[in-house]
Amino acid sequence: MNYNKKTVKDIDVAGKKVLLRCDFNVPMAKDGSGVITDDKRIRAALPTIQYLLDQGAAVIACSHMGKPKGEIKPELSLKPVAARLSQLLNLEVIMADDVVGPDAQAKAAALQGGQLILLENTRFEPGETKNDPELARAMASMAQVYVSDAFGAVHRAHASTAGVAKYLPAVSGFLIQKELDFIGGALANPKRPLVAILGGSKVSSKIGVINNLLSIADTIIIGGGMAYTFFAAQGGKVGDSLLEDDWKEYANDMVNKAREKGVALLLPVDTIVADAFSPDANSQVVRAGEIPDGWQGLDIGPETVKLFCAAAADAGTVIWNGPMGVFEFDQFARGTRAIAQALSETQAITIIGGGDSAAAVQQLGYADKMTHISTGGGASLEFMEGKELPGVACLLNR
Ligand code: 3PG
Repeated sequence: MNYNKKTVKDIDVAGKKVLLRCDFNVPMAKDGSGVITDDKRIRAALPTIQYLLDQGAAVIACSHMGKPKGEIKPELSLKPVAARLSQLLNLEVIMADDVVGPDAQAKAAALQGGQLILLENTRFEPGETKNDPELARAMASMAQVYVSDAFGAVHRAHASTAGVAKYLPAVSGFLIQKELDFIGGALANPKRPLVAILGGSKVSSKIGVINNLLSIADTIIIGGGMAYTFFAAQGGKVGDSLLEDDWKEYANDMVNKAREKGVALLLPVDTIVADAFSPDANSQVVRAGEIPDGWQGLDIGPETVKLFCAAAADAGTVIWNGPMGVFEFDQFARGTRAIAQALSETQAITIIGGGDSAAAVQQLGYADKMTHISTGGGASLEFMEGKELPGVACLLNR
């Protein structure tokens, strides 16, 4: 796939109406108070928004939030996002009551250069996730240029992320450009050795990534819950740990492929096991693949920490996707914390996949020490799988 895409700087936006797709799918407080608990994605869109406003563009911003499935769900309204955006930009953000309905159309038509409106949740429209051409055309009709900065949603071929690009000149914003430069750069032309640290609970969700990285990385480190499937595949005992029986054969294939390709595949050598899935469970360190019945692995052990951290210290580039253990429980966050610390101290370029890994690095206080933390969960995963991203493919090539 071609990642060399035109950006807002390659197109004249002065005095034009610009439809700007952002990923404002931010976490909200569960009590229904409308409080945004993490505004990282809103902040990440500010450079592009500010640039467009400074250029005299009239900005029609849009985003999805949650999965309303084509229904209007007031709890998934973008109104709280408009309020936060307004604070961050120190500018009035005009909220539209709909996506392409009369209110959006009227407000977009009246919009002047330097002004900003935010359309309602694009997924309130049933055509959004179906990539309905009529919806895409209606959205495009309000503007003269389409800018996408919604990296978190580029793996979705939806009306507002890909469909609209058929009807308008389409370029990327600065956030997408940054994500493509860092993640794309690490995959296409990494400073070596390239070490990939993969964790998280399921082998099945990381197959694509492991497969793709086997042709790119020098070292692949496997931690987190998915390591137990590898041990079980090798005849080890995993007690009550997470296990995907159907993926054991695949795990063995990966080990063999790594050997054939000369990729170092590192698995944990010890495990912290618990007698319950609970923050205050009893715990002990055992050798990997020797987990007693009634116990479950919830973190990598101290010898594994040394092994993995040494690999990260010697790397030219580290890509990290997925925590090493149940970092939400303090007692089982040691492995994830140690990796985060090692990455904060290494000279290597450090790229953190979005989702759980980004949350872990943030929660453990190492966020500002990383070269790049992706704003995309599923999007960064599919990028690392080597898949084509429809929200990027639809943009104009340079
Ligand atoms: C995300 O949170 O990963 C993006 O906003 C995409 O959301 P989705 O998985 O609901 O498409």
